[in-house]
Amino acid sequence: MLRTHNCGELNLKNTGTKVVLSGWVQRVRDTGGLIWIDLRDRYGITQLVLEDGVTNPEIIATAKELGREYVIKATGEVIERIARNPNMPTGDIEIKPESLEILNKSKLPPFTIEDKTDGGEELRMKYRYLDLRRNPVRKNLELRHRMATETRKYLDSVGFMEIETPVLIKSTPEGARDFVVPSRMNPGQFYALPQSPQTFKQLLMVAGYDRYFQIVKCFRDEDLRADRQPEFTQIDCEMAFVEQEDILNTFEGVIKHLFKLVKNVDFDYDFPRMSFADAMRTYGSDKPDISFGMTFVELNDVAQNKGFKVFDDAELVVGINASGCAGYSRKQLDKLTSFVRKPQIGATGLVYVKHNEDGTFKSSVDKFFAQDDLKSWAAKFESKPGDLMLVLAGNKNKTRKALNELRLEMGNRLELRNPETFAPMWVVDFPLLEWDDETRRFYAMHHPFTSPKAEDFDLLKSDPGNVRANAYDLVINGVEIGGGSIRIHDKELQGKMFELLGFSDEEAEAQFGFLMNAFEYGAPPHGGIALGFDRLVSLFGGSDSIRDFIAFPKNNSGRDVMIDSPSQVSSEQLDELGLELKKTKTE
Ligand code: AMO
Repeated sequence: MLRTHNCGELNLKNTGTKVVLSGWVQRVRDTGGLIWIDLRDRYGITQLVLEDGVTNPEIIATAKELGREYVIKATGEVIERIARNPNMPTGDIEIKPESLEILNKSKLPPFTIEDKTDGGEELRMKYRYLDLRRNPVRKNLELRHRMATETRKYLDSVGFMEIETPVLIKSTPEGARDFVVPSRMNPGQFYALPQSPQTFKQLLMVAGYDRYFQIVKCFRDEDLRADRQPEFTQIDCEMAFVEQEDILNTFEGVIKHLFKLVKNVDFDYDFPRMSFADAMRTYGSDKPDISFGMTFVELNDVAQNKGFKVFDDAELVVGINASGCAGYSRKQLDKLTSFVRKPQIGATGLVYVKHNEDGTFKSSVDKFFAQDDLKSWAAKFESKPGDLMLVLAGNKNKTRKALNELRLEMGNRLELRNPETFAPMWVVDFPLLEWDDETRRFYAMHHPFTSPKAEDFDLLKSDPGNVRANAYDLVINGVEIGGGSIRIHDKELQGKMFELLGFSDEEAEAQFGFLMNAFEYGAPPHGGIALGFDRLVSLFGGSDSIRDFIAFPKNNSGRDVMIDSPSQVSSEQLDELGLELKKTKTE
């Protein structure tokens, strides 16, 4: 070994010991008479001290050659520091080197390897191996490692078996876009990378492995956001001989265990459950942030038929009460109006009612609503003097979606969203199907293997849009952390589901024949869930961006700027694969 200790472990107990340390030069301070070298590895920093006239001149000469990030090996005695640094674990000691060896030189790094670096995102991603040397990034990866380890230990302790599933699989039309991989041995044919191991974990249930899990990479070619990467990791699980309740309880246990162990947060209550319908009605979102209030208040009965056309024509009039905001200035209200009018938010305007300190009301619709009318609104909002009611109107789904955005914005402005306050919940009873106006067909809201609720079976033919599924999501602080369902395990029902989704028998057979066949050989009742591991880790780490918790992430255009991928392949490779490229517009 090129070291006896690491750079984070020596303290006063080690004084007098001869040690060998290896690591990177964080910095060198040369005051003329004294030279200090901060030696860093992933465990910490230890200071070396060299003194003119005391330290061997050869060592001094080597020290003068050192630059940032040089890799060195130092042998020397641990001594007590005169000026101790209580902020460093090794701050009571330093090393008096008897030898100093440069193991490797370093070019000057393009940004400082400090907690607060001067490097921009793009530069740090290009030199990610240098970025990874920084404490905040290293801590994130340590958190990730710890959570993966604890998850494995816990699931193993309750009988789950980790089984790997293939990465080269078959392209299927449902869900996001697939990444496809051409097959050289089967010209003209393609594998797809799995969007999740969904069908394989179901086949494992048929095979009798009744508690499966896998910490697994998934691949989806979709538009990226702070909480979406084209390749990401799931804690993927499936269980046989269970009902929805068993799955929710088991994975609530996993989450509670991780919170306790990693964050020392205790949840001594069952995670609340909310139906999809209630979540949409009261939060306008299927992933509500219930860590703060400001729930939706519907006003149709008190706000319509008063001559205000915007409300009268609306399917829904709905608002929130921003407590303590009646003092908002014209400018602040204009800003909120511009916010809701942004194309991605989609509202046409914003109505406000200030609940004045003297109990009267001032609104943007005073022309249409008398004080008594506004009083009846205030009763619905349970507003107090000093509050500000913010109201949107229009198409039901769009308005709810816009008000959800406004609620989150107000939650941020009022600093009601504390990343260290955790509010987990289950959203249950999702609709089975989602209608798409463009293609004029139903899509599976979760995936085509999700079972409808037995009590809604009758609606499958007559009113498919209102059939609820045995599907659930785990939501924490407004982030969809996981989702799953009880599956269909009956060939006939699965066939019916494909029919509803517009598959012909031939298409269903070609796409999913392997699964339907398996269902003919004794498929047990089963269900499962997948937790988005990157999202869970970033939630624990207090960040919105999952990129910070992935060693080598892609940027927003799906590029790895470090290895410069995706990139072109040679014409020989294309020939071998029997592929020819179409001319792109830029050529
Ligand atoms: P679903 O598609 O809901 O379910 O995915 C499960 C969880 O994975 C996370 N997730 C992502 N994380 C980062 N980047 C992405 N692009 C991304 N997409 C999804 C989310 C999500 O809740 N096979 C089913 C699970 C099942 O039914 O058991 C599935 O994949 O946190």
